[in-house]
Amino acid sequence: MKPEILKISQISAEQSVLCILGSDHIPERLTLSESEKEFAQKQLNAKEEYIFINSYHKCTYLVRLKEEISNFKIREELRKTSYNLRKLIKGNNHSELVITSDNAYKGAIEDFAEGLLLSFYSFKKYKTKEENGEKKNYPMKLLLHGDIDDSDIKWLVDLTDAVYITRDLINEPVNHLNATTLAGEIRKIGDSAGFSVEVLTKGKIEALKMGGLLAVNKGSVDPPVFCILEWKPSKCLNEKPIVLVGKGVVYDTGGLNIKTGDFMSGMNGDMSGAATVTGVLYTVAKAGLPLHIVGLVPSTDNRPGGNAYTQGDIITMHNKMTVEVGNTDAEGRLILADAISYASKYSPELIIDIATLTGSAAMTFGNQAIAVMSTADKKYITLLEECGNDVYERIAELPLWDEYGELLKSDIADIKNIGGREAGAITAGKFLERFAEFPLIHMDIAGTEMLKKDDFYRIKNGCGSGLRLLSTLLKRVAATYSEKK
Ligand code: BES
Ligand code: MN
Ligand code: ZN
Repeated sequence: MKPEILKISQISAEQSVLCILGSDHIPERLTLSESEKEFAQKQLNAKEEYIFINSYHKCTYLVRLKEEISNFKIREELRKTSYNLRKLIKGNNHSELVITSDNAYKGAIEDFAEGLLLSFYSFKKYKTKEENGEKKNYPMKLLLHGDIDDSDIKWLVDLTDAVYITRDLINEPVNHLNATTLAGEIRKIGDSAGFSVEVLTKGKIEALKMGGLLAVNKGSVDPPVFCILEWKPSKCLNEKPIVLVGKGVVYDTGGLNIKTGDFMSGMNGDMSGAATVTGVLYTVAKAGLPLHIVGLVPSTDNRPGGNAYTQGDIITMHNKMTVEVGNTDAEGRLILADAISYASKYSPELIIDIATLTGSAAMTFGNQAIAVMSTADKKYITLLEECGNDVYERIAELPLWDEYGELLKSDIADIKNIGGREAGAITAGKFLERFAEFPLIHMDIAGTEMLKKDDFYRIKNGCGSGLRLLSTLLKRVAATYSEKK
């Protein structure tokens, strides 16, 4: 359960309060006794990260900002502090907690609340009993007190709801979530947020000749799906839509080139891109952004069963190009390529694909940066970089130089789906580029998604990497359009 967020205008003397301080001054409205204040002042002077005062009938938490000026690193420090405090806060069993600030930058309360909400996430759906020491997500209500715009609170609630929804989808194991049930979940999310969802089933996918998606699906007993998510409000600022494409491999065994050792673990999260696109549409629709956005989700599992596609197969893709299969574990690019060429029918302003695509991206950037490759206008990358810093889902760009494309040459087909061991993240990007008739931003989240342990409020397993980034990007794009009008 995610705590509820409410705005309040008055703090009463009995309420438990967490106050973010931009200076060493302790505000009067915290109603502390003289000895409590003395203790707090001493701790502040000692530069403690946070101060905790248990007055028995209520608790007070003080969080001192590391610097007065607001920059993206200070904002992230605050989100991280909320993670460090999550157990203490839970342990105190507050039914509600006030979050306020004094001399702090505007937005500090929302940043702290965001970090805390995301830190309280857990995936406990399949636990039949509460375990020792496991608590519900107390406090169940966070009461925000201060100079906060209602629209910012709404954005915070919708965005964090979207992160929960996205993480829940990613964390489902494949025996509970195959391509068809994923489509069902996307439909439900669309209904609740107000965007439309069309689900193309196998017959339609065959009629559309999506050879990549169909090839990857051959070794599976479950059929593939192709979901089309659309948000098109009556007031739209963009004539041509932005198309988001998410990799929806509900489980990646590697196929006949089966993953060995521990490499298969966590591969239920290989549909993170799909979950993230769904989450972004949720936020965009909830916020009522005046933009036309389309989401495309090709989905299947990748298995070595029955008539599985094999190394050496030549497949004809949706755009009629032929691909030699060099490795069945390079499946993500095959299903994405079909979706990217399908996107042409919208004549999009921009295509953004997001995918857990290559181990190479993870080896290069670890869990700290999303690998980005782009053929789009530089202004979008600059904006993506800025948003990435703000929400701290940072991006790092890799080049799409022509020479890397040479590695994908095939003797027998138009292109091969692998380029050898070197520059693996880039050759995957080069492969996708060949299917894009419109500007493309490719985001590889293989390193930043599916964490082995908590990275603060990015809770381990599916963390929803790229969701806050893309949602914020679209919000800014909408704002730039509004300014122009
Ligand atoms: N889903 C994997 C990529 C991945 C690896 C995601 C680790 C998350 C963590 C993808 O389908 C894959 O198997 N990629 C191969 C490509 C190779 C065969 C060219 C890889 O990166 O090893
Ligand atoms: Mn694979
Ligand atoms: Zn994969």
